[in-house]
Amino acid sequence: MSVERTLTILKPDCVKKGLIGEVIKRIQEAGFRIVAIKMMQLTPTTAGGFYAVHKERPFYGELCDFMSSGPCVPMVLEKENAVSDFRVFIGATNPAEAEAGTIRANFADSVGENIIHGSDSVENGVIESNYFFAESDILAVKGA
Ligand code: RTP
Ligand code: MG
Repeated sequence: MSVERTLTILKPDCVKKGLIGEVIKRIQEAGFRIVAIKMMQLTPTTAGGFYAVHKERPFYGELCDFMSSGPCVPMVLEKENAVSDFRVFIGATNPAEAEAGTIRANFADSVGENIIHGSDSVENGVIESNYFFAESDILAVKGA
């Protein structure tokens, strides 16, 4: 296994529910190192660019509206096998189908408002990290 980079976003529902601290605590306890973090509000256009792969899907408009509805917290995480370990950690897209104990099972209300994003491949982990952060903003944190 090698050290990978994955991009997560604490989505606007996570921020509105006051769960930033709780979710970050769980992320760190699970062994992911935060190497970049910021709080920002996406526009429908920047949200749409991030989720461009879904632009033909029926939920795309709703997704862009939701993701730009309030502040969110993008973060770059590093860990061995980070990409697939993080997908397991957050749980299935639909919280009703998410494993017990995962972030989405514990905190998400619906498939549309599901608290947290995680990159779905190593390649996308790099591309998505670069969507939000300059390389010079991504720190090399050892054991943080
Ligand atoms: P994400 O990209 O946010 O980590 O979510 P994911 O991989 O688990 O799911 P994906 O298929 O990439 O879908 C992206 C986001 O679109 C919203 N969605 N809504 N109403 C619907 O049927 C529906 N399906 C997907 C969710 O917010 C999902 O996380
Ligand atoms: Mg996805």
